[in-house]
Amino acid sequence: MSAPLRELLDPPIIQQINQLDVSPGSRVLEIGAGTGHVTAYLARAVGPLGRVVAVDDDTTHLNPSAVVDVYSRDVAVNPDAVPGDAASFDLVVARWPYHRLVDPAALIDRMLARLRPGGWLVLADVTDTRPHVHRAATSGDEELINRIVRRLYDTTLGAGGTGRWPADLEEFLHSRGMQGVCLSAASETWTGGRPGCNVLAGIVHHARTTLQALGIPADDIDYFQTVMTDHHLVLRSIERRGLHARKPA
Ligand SMILES: C[S@@+](CC[C@H](N)C(=O)[O-])C[C@H]1O[C@@H](n2cnc3c(N)ncnc32)[C@H](O)[C@@H]1O
Repeated sequence: MSAPLRELLDPPIIQQINQLDVSPGSRVLEIGAGTGHVTAYLARAVGPLGRVVAVDDDTTHLNPSAVVDVYSRDVAVNPDAVPGDAASFDLVVARWPYHRLVDPAALIDRMLARLRPGGWLVLADVTDTRPHVHRAATSGDEELINRIVRRLYDTTLGAGGTGRWPADLEEFLHSRGMQGVCLSAASETWTGGRPGCNVLAGIVHHARTTLQALGIPADDIDYFQTVMTDHHLVLRSIERRGLHARKPA
């Protein structure tokens, strides 16, 4: 995950985890741990007496340590692909394991099975509410932004893909008997030259090769960077979603 994308996605999940007051010594399962940034945060939270089990089918960027166990597993395959005993974790976390999840709802059931009674579940993702241009210097700028951001959503951000949690996440978790379900979704207004547009420019820059392979000309990608610095530009941000819920004790 690129640095600009992390800048966008880290605050909501850190906020969710902080609300739970994860105690030193806790046992945590993280699904789709990716580059391990959330893993590292969890490892600090549980301390030397805790344990974080980090799972991904690509463990290239995950480093085991005295606190972190790394498992290479495809969790889309079957319930046994999720490591750990039933009801053995205090906290189960998954942020946006998009792309190869065939059935995200089934994965949540597997995660819940690993959670001890009274344990917490934390989920986060990017919703498919797309950015919307409120104001641009020209209609050409607006068209360019929409074209590039649409491509970004359909590819890099995996909009409409299979890694998004169910849209009715709260209802789904209530139907599984979860308590204290608390979801927050955030989007802001971003202005050209300000931090939000800088982050969007950074994400597009990072996805440059992919976007070019999908037919976006290099000049358009360069011009996108310029437009993102235009103080006249106003758009709605990418929406992020985070949730925590508790298994009945
Ligand atoms: C967008 S990255 C997010 C990484 C990390 N959760 C984060 O937020 O920084 C998605 C991660 O989910 C993993 N993933 C997707 N489908 C998976 C599957 N079926 N089994 C295991 N890992 C999977 C990918 O390999 C990737 O590392």
